[in-house]
Amino acid sequence: MTSTVRGTQLARLLGQWHSLPGRHRSPDYVALAAAVRGLLSDGRLPLGVRLPAERELAESLAVSRTTVSAAYRTLRESGHLTSRRGAGSWTTLPNGHRVATSGLWAAGDDRDVIDLGVAAHRAPDELLGAAQAAVNEDLPRYLGSAGYHPTGLVELRDAVAAGYTARGVATSAEQILITAGTQQALDLVLRLSVPAGSPVLVEAPTYPNALAALSARRARIATHGLDTATGWDAEMLLGALRQGRPRCAYVIPEFHNPTGHLMDAGLRERLVATAHAAGTELIVDESFVDLQLDGDEMPPPVAVFDRHSRVVSIGGMSKAYWGGLRIGWVRASAPLVQRLAAIRVGVDMASPVLEQLVGVRLLEQSERIVAARRTELRTRRDVLIDALREHLPEWTFTVPGGGVMLWCELDGPISSALARAAEDVDVRLAPGPRFGLDGTLERFLRLPFTLPEGTLVEAVKRIASVRYDLDRGIRPSWRSPAVIA
Ligand SMILES: Cc1ncc(COP(=O)(O)O)c(C=O)c1O
Repeated sequence: MTSTVRGTQLARLLGQWHSLPGRHRSPDYVALAAAVRGLLSDGRLPLGVRLPAERELAESLAVSRTTVSAAYRTLRESGHLTSRRGAGSWTTLPNGHRVATSGLWAAGDDRDVIDLGVAAHRAPDELLGAAQAAVNEDLPRYLGSAGYHPTGLVELRDAVAAGYTARGVATSAEQILITAGTQQALDLVLRLSVPAGSPVLVEAPTYPNALAALSARRARIATHGLDTATGWDAEMLLGALRQGRPRCAYVIPEFHNPTGHLMDAGLRERLVATAHAAGTELIVDESFVDLQLDGDEMPPPVAVFDRHSRVVSIGGMSKAYWGGLRIGWVRASAPLVQRLAAIRVGVDMASPVLEQLVGVRLLEQSERIVAARRTELRTRRDVLIDALREHLPEWTFTVPGGGVMLWCELDGPISSALARAAEDVDVRLAPGPRFGLDGTLERFLRLPFTLPEGTLVEAVKRIASVRYDLDRGIRPSWRSPAVIA
């Protein structure tokens, strides 16, 4: 799936390219080439897209064609552009540089390390009580049966469906499939919808384990670059759907991982309509939907706008409750749920009965548990922000109105080097490139605010100390790479 960026689109992405810092010393073509390189390394301009013809871009930027020609030549020389006569020019990275996305990316188990690689929290206080009640009062009802329920226990499916209905999209239990976490929900949907080699559109940056699931299905991944400050660029996103006509698009509209952005209702509606016209199935990951921290009303679920069964929503209990429960779900049409369940039988048969019963018990107390989670996250977010402003004042970020993470723009392309150096002070970080496809995003770092306040402050102090060492050229002693699992 090769898509083309139009002149007007690239001009908008480039913004104030002619007034970049240091600009007064360099000619126009050098500044233009540098600005395109900047977009590429931030992941806002995907790799493998066709840039506009020189004449078209010259018109959109109101510069001479010679300037654009020279900028494209510079980009070719630095390995950021490949051109073929008559066919156009595509964005690339020097030396075919790529970062594999198949690496494991989950919680570490070294208790002495401050783990900021994982955006997840400890279990809520209510969990033990819920588990005891589930064992004593609910489980006995199931012990006389075989215990295999490939679509999930009806009482949990009912509770999840009721949650959707309360959010404004009428849903019945038949439309819910219970899975082992949101991750399995995604995997099952991809197994059904993405034959090997199919084009799939994802956001850049995005959730690394979604990239891993897509790689496992051998999808051909194309990206839509999110702006760090403003989020989705509606025209670029919808244009990518219209042009690329991908089989699926995977989006995280609520407090996006890792940028924290919330998609507005208008774009949700247009996204569904455009996906329908393009023949694209939308996979909507609602992992963080419960975790609004500021503001009044949430936009409606994307599925509200779905009149043609184009939207499959996935979600789970990991973020507002506990990841260790491994409870997730798919919301889709009832026939699709049956087809997914048939696939699921070939994977793991069914979810454990006891965990589902615990899930039901927790959902019964959702109001209290989620409210406490939000209060805790709000405090932790603000403490993390204060610590960053004090110890790393050059770093910038947009304060997210929900979710569990800050997406920091660093003071240089140092994210991976910083993550390696931070290991020496026992802090585990998820550097920017983990959230992209191709080694870009080195100027970004995701910092979750799920750990206790004191731990967050300590982590920021340690990160600041190694950041300072990087500047002074003190090389961290390299360890053999740890498996981030
Ligand atoms: C966007 C997104 N989707 C899916 C998952 C996986 O969630 P689960 O633990 O429910 O499988 C995560 C976890 O971080 C996530 O951030």
